[in-house]
Amino acid sequence: MADFEISDVLQSKPDAAHASKTFYLETFGCQMNVHDSEKVIGTLTQQGYHQVDTEEAADLILYNTCSIRDKAEQKVFNRLNDYKKLVKQGKRFGVLGCVAQQEGEQIFERAPYVSLVSGSASYRKLPEMLVRLELGEKRITGLDDRQTEETFETEFTARSNQHRGYITIIEGCDKFCAYCVVPYTRGKERSRTSTSVLAEAQRMADSGYTEIQLLGQNVNSYRDTEGKKSFAELLAAVGEIPGIRRVRFTTSHPRDFTRDIVEAIDAVPTLCDHVHLPVQSGSSDVLHMMQREYTRDWYLERISWIKAAKRKISMTTDIIVGFPGETPADFEQTVTLLHEVQYDGVFAFKYSPRPNTPAITMPDSISDEVKSQRLQILLERQREIQRFTYEKHVGEVLEVMVEGHNQARGQVIGRTSQNKTLNFTTGQPILPAGGSYLPVRVTKSFPNSLVGESVA
Ligand code: 5AD
Ligand code: SF4
Repeated sequence: MADFEISDVLQSKPDAAHASKTFYLETFGCQMNVHDSEKVIGTLTQQGYHQVDTEEAADLILYNTCSIRDKAEQKVFNRLNDYKKLVKQGKRFGVLGCVAQQEGEQIFERAPYVSLVSGSASYRKLPEMLVRLELGEKRITGLDDRQTEETFETEFTARSNQHRGYITIIEGCDKFCAYCVVPYTRGKERSRTSTSVLAEAQRMADSGYTEIQLLGQNVNSYRDTEGKKSFAELLAAVGEIPGIRRVRFTTSHPRDFTRDIVEAIDAVPTLCDHVHLPVQSGSSDVLHMMQREYTRDWYLERISWIKAAKRKISMTTDIIVGFPGETPADFEQTVTLLHEVQYDGVFAFKYSPRPNTPAITMPDSISDEVKSQRLQILLERQREIQRFTYEKHVGEVLEVMVEGHNQARGQVIGRTSQNKTLNFTTGQPILPAGGSYLPVRVTKSFPNSLVGESVA
């Protein structure tokens, strides 16, 4: 059940005319999509709709979709197919997010029972689109594409966690990496003012949130339209709000990763000890073909800044294997990069050709079998590295935020500032509540989690 940031939403009971307006929303894809859904749920609730848990119980069925890779895109069409029988019962379907923006009106051809197709750059028009839907319009579109200069800001955000919450600081992307749909699905880069971001963070702190995650496809190319704050200054200012204990940010592009971000982490204790810096490949030749606009050495220089920080900052990355033209030697350079950096986590993907992107014109030259082999090698090597990067914590006392309980194992699930899972025991009959902070001594490690005991 979602908890609402604005008490008005909770208090505004739908009137009788609205009582039957129910919706089901399923989210696919990244944190940006998860947070967009929180804002969409808030907006619908404010319009008198009531969220339900199943497609069967809903009048309006919404899918907030992802098109980053082919598999992600297929999921929504499979889901639509599974539930199209419900149209006979008068239920309406809406496709939101990246597949909606990418496929546009073609969705009406592929799935004629869909009534609403909207990309994220049009969500500010949702109230108007909902009214048209209620009036019986059959083909409503919100496909603003790269024209829009506006961001989707709403005070009606149905955050799904009471302790940690997202704030979007920048939408869209202007980087145009050769493989990536995001510049086409999420529009051009547009930042919110620092005044508006800080006001939202303050409201969250006032309502009891202690962790804030600043979001953007390319969060560190943030440009305050009021000209007041750089990204690093905004990060520090959020971290200095009384009551805020943890600040995270994602995703960073190496091209815009500046030294003052590391300096801010060193200076402000509430900024978490973690940087996610997607490299995509360890080969400068492949990086060039990917239009990433940096080389291996240039990337490693940013890593050296992070490693030189006074605090021990964990590092994670994204990697694509099997980009068109990637030779065995190129791939080997990605493997050596993993060893050189010693990442704390890696998200690795097989290259998937995407519509509209520059790379779609390059022959998808690496077979799926080779892509799978490379992915497996990469993940095995990284597992070995993580054995080491996790083992280093044994003996340390780390502060965790409690996320939940594993009843079967009698453990509490915590998360460290470095964004690692730390499962621990307390020796107490009453388990600590979700969202509380505790010091925990690490006693054991695995490649993906730590084990410990709380320190009295
Ligand atoms: N194929 C495979 N992986 C991709 N990513 C983005 N586009 C593609 C694609 N076409 C990966 C990148 C990015 C992450 C979110 O998804 O590694 O950082
Ligand atoms: Fe998927 Fe990218 Fe859209 Fe996020 S922005 S939902 S990762 S396509």
